Amino acid sequence: MNNFIYYKSAQYTDIDVIYEQCSGPGGLRLADFMAGKMALQHGSRLLDVGCNRGFQSCFLAKEYGVSVMGIDPWDDRMNGDPMIEHVRRNADLWGVSNMVLAQKAGVPETNFAAKSFDFVYSTTALEMVRGLEGEQGYLSCLSEILRILKPGGVFGLGEPMHLDVPLPGDLEPYVSQGDFPWKECFRDLKSTVADVKRAGFAIIEADYAPDAWSWWMEYATHDPFCKKAPDEDPKTLEVDNGRWTSFGYVIAKRPE
Ligand SMILES: C[S@@+](CC[C@H](N)C(=O)[O-])C[C@H]1O[C@@H](n2cnc3c(N)ncnc32)[C@H](O)[C@@H]1O
Repeated sequence: MNNFIYYKSAQYTDIDVIYEQCSGPGGLRLADFMAGKMALQHGSRLLDVGCNRGFQSCFLAKEYGVSVMGIDPWDDRMNGDPMIEHVRRNADLWGVSNMVLAQKAGVPETNFAAKSFDFVYSTTALEMVRGLEGEQGYLSCLSEILRILKPGGVFGLGEPMHLDVPLPGDLEPYVSQGDFPWKECFRDLKSTVADVKRAGFAIIEADYAPDAWSWWMEYATHDPFCKKAPDEDPKTLEVDNGRWTSFGYVIAKRPE
């Protein structure tokens, strides 16, 4: 681990449960990292785009005192329930049902009124839209997020990204497979920042996360789908060995 101190997530130590309830690298440490970077304010209203089972939404509500609306359009791969039903159950378990709501919806068609949120948080979700809908689809999601943020509101984007290096030839077959080939979904930091700017945001800070590789290693070891299919993402990460795959973040503001 690098020098970032996970003040609030350090108390949540059951890493298997965290990776069962989240989806992707980082889990609650990612949410904690992003909350710090976004400077979340107690009592403000946050939209979690691609909230999955809402574990991060509940963490942000409980530990940072924000009211969360989670949106997720998909059903759970594990038991077929809509993600939003998991969100409601998790909100009960976390004791934050008065602070966390969920809707079965997604970007770019959220149907929220313009200027509805103080903060929008999205981790490991929009790159999947890029994989499905291409760069134009990704940009439409960013434009929608800008529209529903209040002027001066903050967007925190945390995303699997690749380093600014050529894709190693021996890795290419591994990142070209599956329903969401990483080669199609992941971009480098520079290109992601350019997209966020193009959508009309002002960049506050952007970088690769210092703990990116340790989050990926945790994911490879603890994610239930990785446990079931070690020849898929865990194998890709083993072959990669930190040469190409990373995780970046962009903190941006809707101009006043
Ligand atoms: C890999 S999970 C990430 C969940 C969580 N944010 C995390 O970091 O652990 C991505 C989620 O994005 C959701 N998703 C897919 N397409 C979406 C869209 N167009 N808008 C919002 N969410 C979407 C999926 O249903 C899935 O739950």
